[in-house]
Parts: sequence; structure tokens; C-alpha cells
Amino acid sequence: MLLKDKIIIVTGASEGIGKALTKNLISKGAKVAMISRRQDEDFVKDHSGSAYAFKCDVTDKNQVRSTMAQIAKEFGSIDGLINSAGIWLKTKPLEEVSLDEIETVLDANLKGLIYMTKEVLPYLKKNKESVLVNISSKSGTRPMDLQAVYCASKYGVKGFTDTLKLELKKSSVKIMGFYPSGINTKMFEKAGEGFPAETFMNADEIAEIITFAIERPGNISIEEIQVEKY
Ligand SMILES: NC(=O)c1ccc[n+]([C@@H]2O[C@H](COP(=O)([O-])OP(=O)(O)OC[C@H]3O[C@@H](n4cnc5c(N)ncnc54)[C@H](OP(=O)(O)O)[C@@H]3O)[C@@H](O)[C@H]2O)c1
Repeated sequence: MLLKDKIIIVTGASEGIGKALTKNLISKGAKVAMISRRQDEDFVKDHSGSAYAFKCDVTDKNQVRSTMAQIAKEFGSIDGLINSAGIWLKTKPLEEVSLDEIETVLDANLKGLIYMTKEVLPYLKKNKESVLVNISSKSGTRPMDLQAVYCASKYGVKGFTDTLKLELKKSSVKIMGFYPSGINTKMFEKAGEGFPAETFMNADEIAEIITFAIERPGNISIEEIQVEKY
């Protein structure tokens, strides 16, 4: 898809991978609707005409529905959705994970992604070509010790993505699952984790890989990418 003037929704765009991706897509000429609970007013001002911030909690069904309707109305069409919003849960045995933590992680990483996809899909289907990218994780393909709940959320994203792929086979929507290992963002630190994030992959390089996949021409669909630090 040629990204010039395309309308792409990125969730989790206030920082990390979503923010890096927003910058990369804008550099290719796309207009990005940035979804998150916080908004970076300075970034939007600096990228006026390309970046548009919409305050929305993806775990809130009603907010998701009304925000997607607002975006469709403002832009006339939606060409892509990249689901990047997500949270980490500090590594610990399941007995030490609270019921609230379970709900919060599944709501943000899995249910929120499904709500977003369900609301945006009808708009994506209207176009001759559109893209849907779900950011899962390496933890959505392989178990990680003491991460049963986070892995459940990410395996859930993989199951959802693989199954929706069958449903969208004859549609104009190209769907891709993205499965990276550790990336140098604030995700772990915010959850109180002590990982040395600086040894991880760089978010800008990850954004370039996703953009490359989206930019493939009409008859090519990259359905899955796994990325490891070498
Ligand atoms: N970093 C890694 O090592 C890594 C590896 C593999 C996969 N991933 C996955 O990649 C995705 C992005 O991770 P990241 O490293 O970029 O994390 P990050 O830097 O912590 O950014 C997370 C983003 O998600 C948004 N978000 C969280 N909960 C939200 C909610 N309820 N509604 C709307 N937005 C919400 C945050 O914005 P607000 O707080 O402003 O709402 C923020 O913009 C996640 O799904 C993560 O699981 C990350």
C-alpha cells in the first residue's frame, strides 16, 4: 500500500512502538490518528496536518465505538489499523497476581484489541486495499516462565489474528500478526520490572519493519513477522 495521504489508526501511539510507528508512517506521507489515554500535544503541534490525537481508552467499548465513528466522520475513510496499545505485568507466580491485575492485562492487551478491530473493520472493508496489524509478542508464540497472564493475553492476540485471517481471506483487508521479543521502551519500567531495556531492540527499527510490511504492493501480503534480537 502506498502510504501517501492514507489514514492509519495507531493505538498506543503516545509512546513506545506506537509513537515510533506514528513518526515512521508520517515520514511516508500517511495521516495518523493516534489513540491513547494520554496525548502528546507538542508532538501533534509539530506534526500538524499529519498527526491527530484522539483520547481513548481501548478497554472502554463505548469510547472505542464513538472515537472510531468520529475518526471515520472526520477523515471520510480509514485505510489501516495498527493495534499496539498494551501493558506489561511484572514477572511473578500466578498465586501472587491479583484478580484486578488479570482483568487489567486481559482488557488492555486482548479485549481492547478486539474492540478496536471490530469497530474499525467495516471501514477497512470499504476500501480496495487496507491493512490491519496486531502487535502480539514473542510471548504470544512461546511460554515465558512466571508470565502466565501476559502470555495468555498475547497468545489470545495470536489466536484472534490467525482466525480472523481466515474470515478476511476474500476481503480487501490484509492482516498481519507481529511477534517481537524485547524492545527498548518504557513498558517494563512502568510495570516495576527491572529488565535492562537498553539491551533490547530499538523501537524505531521495529517501526521500520512494520512500515515495510504495510508498504508491500497490492498482490503481496506479509501475514506474520517474528523479530528477535541477534
Ligand atoms: N516493549 C517490548 O519489549 C515489547 C515486546 C513485544 C511486544 N510488545 C507489545 O508491543 C505493544 C507496545 O508496547 P510498547 O513497548 O510500545 O509499550 P509502551 O511504551 O509502554 O507504550 C504502550 C502504549 O499503549 C498505550 N495504552 C496502554 N493501555 C492503553 C489503554 N487502555 N487504552 C489506550 N492506550 C493504552 C499507552 O498509552 P497511554 O498510557 O497514554 O494510554 C502507550 O501509548 C504492546 O502491546 C506490547 O505488549 C512490546
